[in-house]
Amino acid sequence: MSDPILRVKNLSKHFIITGSNIAGKTIINAVRNISFDIYEHDSFGLIGESGSGKSTTANLVLRLLEPSSGTIEIFGKDITWLDEAGMRRHRKDIQIIFQQSGNSLDPKMTVGELLMEPLKIHGIAGEKEYDKETDRLLEMVGLTPKDKSKYPSQMSGGQNQRIIIARAIAVRPRIIVCDEPVASLDVSVQGQILNLLMDLKEELGLTYLFITHDLKVVRHICSRIAVMYNGEIVEMGEMREVLEKPRGDYTKLLVESIL
Ligand SMILES: Nc1ncnc2c1ncn2[C@@H]1O[C@H](COP(=O)(O)OP(=O)(O)OP(=O)(O)O)[C@@H](O)[C@H]1O
Ligand SMILES: [Mg+2]
Repeated sequence: MSDPILRVKNLSKHFIITGSNIAGKTIINAVRNISFDIYEHDSFGLIGESGSGKSTTANLVLRLLEPSSGTIEIFGKDITWLDEAGMRRHRKDIQIIFQQSGNSLDPKMTVGELLMEPLKIHGIAGEKEYDKETDRLLEMVGLTPKDKSKYPSQMSGGQNQRIIIARAIAVRPRIIVCDEPVASLDVSVQGQILNLLMDLKEELGLTYLFITHDLKVVRHICSRIAVMYNGEIVEMGEMREVLEKPRGDYTKLLVESIL
């Protein structure tokens, strides 16, 4: 097997909450000593109940949060303690698609401007190519060049999620972290967006870290999965193996709860 494209080793993150109680501080161990490897073109699922540490893991992998301990490697390079300047050249390799919460797109920007922004920031295309490149991105996500003059408020939830996806692929990443990318969408639209993500994965040769607590989504998308509980990875393996023959009690409960 080739080397992993993303390697997380003994990663932990605690948050210290300074409250008004007498002890003064509460420590939340959001991620506890987790390790996993993701290989190129894999679609690695991170599942578990609310509060189990999935989004914290995503934010650590993207270096949006400082880890308390452990390491993160991308393409064999340890990025755990790179400063902002050092991270700059890795930022476009790994992108995130957040849950569409209605406010993740700047409402004052048109769709065209929203798509041009990442191109400018990462110097992907020259100014003359912006128009052609934004048209190409819109078509890739199932929208049309006519949509460029619209504002996010003039588009549906599913269309806005397509714009978020277009912004992520605009910088030609190798890895995309998808954090509950369809959870806030109407059920009828969820399937379309999942299909789009799968098509783009094939077309662009992407690798996914896919976070969800929806096992239907896992079955549709993931090749390997890790199950998180209370900040720890309690089970990991091939998707079918883990879901059909869960070893741990927690995984059994999780699987049964949605059958
Ligand atoms: N910035 C923060 N400060 C303090 N505690 C935090 C912070 N971010 C997350 N936590 C806590 O860390 C734990 C893990 O949270 P996280 O958001 O990673 O869970 P999750 O698995 O993504 O949940 P969900 O499925 O609801 O999105 C929770 O107990 C949460 O309250
Ligand atoms: Mg989350």
